[in-house]
Amino acid sequence: MVVRQIRTGRDNFSYLIFDEKTRMAALVDPGFDASEALGIIKDEGLDLRYVINTHHHGDHTASNGEVISETGAKLVASREDGANLKDSVDIHVWEGDALSLGCVSLKFLGAPGHTKGGLCIIVGDGYLITGDTLFINDCGRCDLPGGSLKDMFATLQKLKELDDQLIVFPGHDYGPMPSDTLGNQKRISGVLLARDIDEFSRL
Ligand SMILES: [Fe+2]
Repeated sequence: MVVRQIRTGRDNFSYLIFDEKTRMAALVDPGFDASEALGIIKDEGLDLRYVINTHHHGDHTASNGEVISETGAKLVASREDGANLKDSVDIHVWEGDALSLGCVSLKFLGAPGHTKGGLCIIVGDGYLITGDTLFINDCGRCDLPGGSLKDMFATLQKLKELDDQLIVFPGHDYGPMPSDTLGNQKRISGVLLARDIDEFSRL
């Protein structure tokens, strides 16, 4: 299993996931400019099966159409956020749903808070792609349309239940490093240390 973190635009991250044996691949959040990801797909001879959006915001989804028309990939999003996309969604996913790329499993978590239909993705047993839900040392904004502080707090409690060894791969490069273990984030990130919604809302 390979997961490539690709910096795109000003500070967005896309993630290209593939199974080395079957070359089946998925691209999470193509962003405004998918040229680097498309280059890797071509160079590595990958079969892009899915474009997956963690949420509907344009800085994560603007080049969906270009990637889909070049590769024939299916678009995967939540029902709630997919309704805000200009591209038509082929596969709706939410909590408990899963897809696979050869031997690589993609398990979806419903993660409302930044948007109503935000998603996080557990890749194999190694990575947690968090979109704009969890950043390194911070979390996504809750004050945009569809956002909710209460939902974000509940989502963060759910992420705290996950395995410490998972590598957190966020949707933006906002922290002191581009990724971290979930265990370390549980120890140092204020948004994960907040004990209740009052403490969380004061951050
Ligand atoms: Fe966003």
